[in-house]
Formats: sequence, C-alpha cells, structure tokens
Amino acid sequence: MKTLLMCEPRYFEVCYVINPWMDGNLGRVDTGLAVRQWRDLYDVLSGKAPIKLIEPVAGLPDMVFTANGGFVCRDREVVISSFRHPERRVESRYFSDFFVGSGYRVSGLGNGVHFEGAGDALRDSSGQVWAGYGQRSDVGAIDEIAAMLHGRVNGLALVDPKWYHLDTAFCPLEGGCVIAYDKAFSAQGVGSIERAFGGGTIWVSEEDANSFACNAVNIGSDVILHRASDELKAALGRQGFNVIEVGVSEFIKAGGACKCLTLEL
Ligand code: ARG
Repeated sequence: MKTLLMCEPRYFEVCYVINPWMDGNLGRVDTGLAVRQWRDLYDVLSGKAPIKLIEPVAGLPDMVFTANGGFVCRDREVVISSFRHPERRVESRYFSDFFVGSGYRVSGLGNGVHFEGAGDALRDSSGQVWAGYGQRSDVGAIDEIAAMLHGRVNGLALVDPKWYHLDTAFCPLEGGCVIAYDKAFSAQGVGSIERAFGGGTIWVSEEDANSFACNAVNIGSDVILHRASDELKAALGRQGFNVIEVGVSEFIKAGGACKCLTLEL
C-alpha cells in the first residue's frame, strides 16, 4: 500500500518566479483558501492511504510540493533532490533530516547534477522508472539513478518550460495505463510512451493539461486530480478508473497540483 508524504501549507505563497505558472501570481495566493484546498486533498487521500507529514519551514513556500523532496528508489532508501533554483535549495536539508529521522538511507547525486525527486522520476505499474530531464533535472541524473537501481531508466526530454517537471505532463496509472500531454515531449518521447503503454495511453487535451489533469494521484482505481473534462473522465472510465476532483487552484498559481503535493514513500 502507498504511503504518502505531505506538508501543510502554513508558509505557502508565491513570492518568486521559477516557472511560467508563477509569473503574474506574485502575492496572489488566497492563503485561507489554500489551507482549505490542501485540507480537502488531505481528507480525500487519508481515506485511501496512510499519510505522513513533514513540518513546514518558514521562508520555504514551495516545501508543500513534497514530490520534489526526493525519490524513494527502494524500500527505506531515498535520493535527495538537488534543486536547480537557489530559491528551493535549502529544502533539501529539511527533507534529508526527515528521511534520516524516519530510518531511511539517504544519498544524493554527484556534484552539480540537478535532480528534483519524484517530480521528475515516476514508476509505472510494471516497476519501470521514467525520468524527465531538460528543465529542472539534468540528463546526467538518469544514468546515476539507473546505477543506483541496478536497472534501466527511461529518459523523457521535456521540451516546453511550461511542463517543467515530468509529473506535470505524465502520470502512469495502475494496470499499464498512463495519462500524458504530448506537447511536453519530443517526437521520440511520444513514441517511447506509445510503445510502452500501447492501448493504455490516454493523451489529454490542452485544456486538461492546463488543468493539471496529468498531475494526478492514483490509488487503486481512483484518480485524484484538480479537474478533468467529461471526455477525459470517460476515457479513464473505459480503463476502469474513477475520477475524484479536488480543486487546488491556489497551488496551480505556483505551478503544482494534487500529485506534487504528495510524495510516495
Ligand atoms: N513552485 C514549485 C516549483 O517551481 C512548484 C513545484 C511543483 N512540483 C511538481 N512536482 N510539479 O518548483
């Protein structure tokens, strides 16, 4: 069973711009609403999976996006993130302390290699790891992660700054399915997704991509996301999935939604 790590939005705000979504949203977060939205997500998820919490830290507004804390590469072993932007670098220390305190073996990548954790490293239902690179994480992270896993990692180049983490445009689901947005990837990436997932591939529309539909949490047959069109709900329904919408508009102002507010432990 999945255990998820979350971080209360006590200090969440948009006070710097490190992705296109944050642009124009400086100081625009309704913090009361953000707290309620986060709580709604917590309530839905905690009914389906155990949740652990990491203590938020003042001055680190993006710490709520726990997906970027690290990548749990195997049982009780985590690769801590090395953030591209200085604004988020201090978070690594707090995530690292959390994992050490929880009995994990903690490692990092080689000097100077950027890697933003489970935002850019996702496992599909067969156990295969997919890694996004070219925006936040470096291509060099792929070989390092593969060496740690003693296995193969499928790299996906991210070609548009709007889709700057793999989990903004790609979400593997149970049973060999995936939801993804093609414009985030190169033609080669689109090809490798189609080859791997075949008929289980659900390409989302631009409208759904912009609603962060690919930034979904999948627990069993439930797919928890900010918003999905009727078309996407139907496509997911045909694959046996049930969509649960939890509005997280305030977090989208910072460029994240349901999935990046969680980290799979
Ligand atoms: N403002 C955060 C950043 O730009 C949002 C992170 C969203 N996380 C994610 N895994 N997509 O880093």
